[in-house]
Amino acid sequence: MDGNGRWARARGLPRIRGHQAGVEALRDIVTACAEWDIPYVTLYSFSTENWARPRAEVDFLMGLLQRYLRHELDVLQKNNVRLLTIGSSEQMPEPVRRDLAAAMQSTAGNTGLTLTLALSYGSRAEIVEAVRALAREAAAGVVCPDDIDENMVAARLQTSGTPDPDLLIRTSGEMRISNFLLWQIAYTELWVTPTYWPDFRRAELLRALEDYAGRERRFGKVEAP
Ligand code: IPE
Ligand code: MG
Repeated sequence: MDGNGRWARARGLPRIRGHQAGVEALRDIVTACAEWDIPYVTLYSFSTENWARPRAEVDFLMGLLQRYLRHELDVLQKNNVRLLTIGSSEQMPEPVRRDLAAAMQSTAGNTGLTLTLALSYGSRAEIVEAVRALAREAAAGVVCPDDIDENMVAARLQTSGTPDPDLLIRTSGEMRISNFLLWQIAYTELWVTPTYWPDFRRAELLRALEDYAGRERRFGKVEAP
């Protein structure tokens, strides 16, 4: 979800207005995904690098997340959405953690869209944690180093239980991954749009999905005869 700041600047508004407008896009996209029976959506909401932003902006984003969790909970429930998070949640402020825990608990039984918010998330840190877990298991003699395979690594990532993404959408035209799901996107299809996140609505999501549907995914193999 990139481009909130530029959306605001283009309108002569403070950056936080871009973040506010971004919530409108979030609501539309989440509702559309639920209505269209998309089983998993993962949103890069706040990276580990985002902590280095001015204190006032970080505080605003944390407050915005809390308001989202409180105001949108009934929308999530109505749409049968299950909420999860990935990232270093222990770094989030205590009140935000409480609201996240409450929202996850009350949506845990929902069977529709799984909405994962990546919060204080960094993919390399996630991989390092998985490596540490495997090293501990090896040191304890539970795992033989030569037996370690891709499935065992994937199972120790925070995304275990969620399939690898089919499609990655990046808004605001940036041609980079920015430490997002590096392991998981090995064969993910990419869609980059110049649209700033606050302007990204279901009509454009539909265009991205239609484009994706027309692609041939070979996973490194040759096309089927
Ligand atoms: C994305 O928009 C929102 C968050 C990272 C929370 P940005 O704030 O990165 O917007 P730009 O990149 O400055 O336009
Ligand atoms: Mg940005």
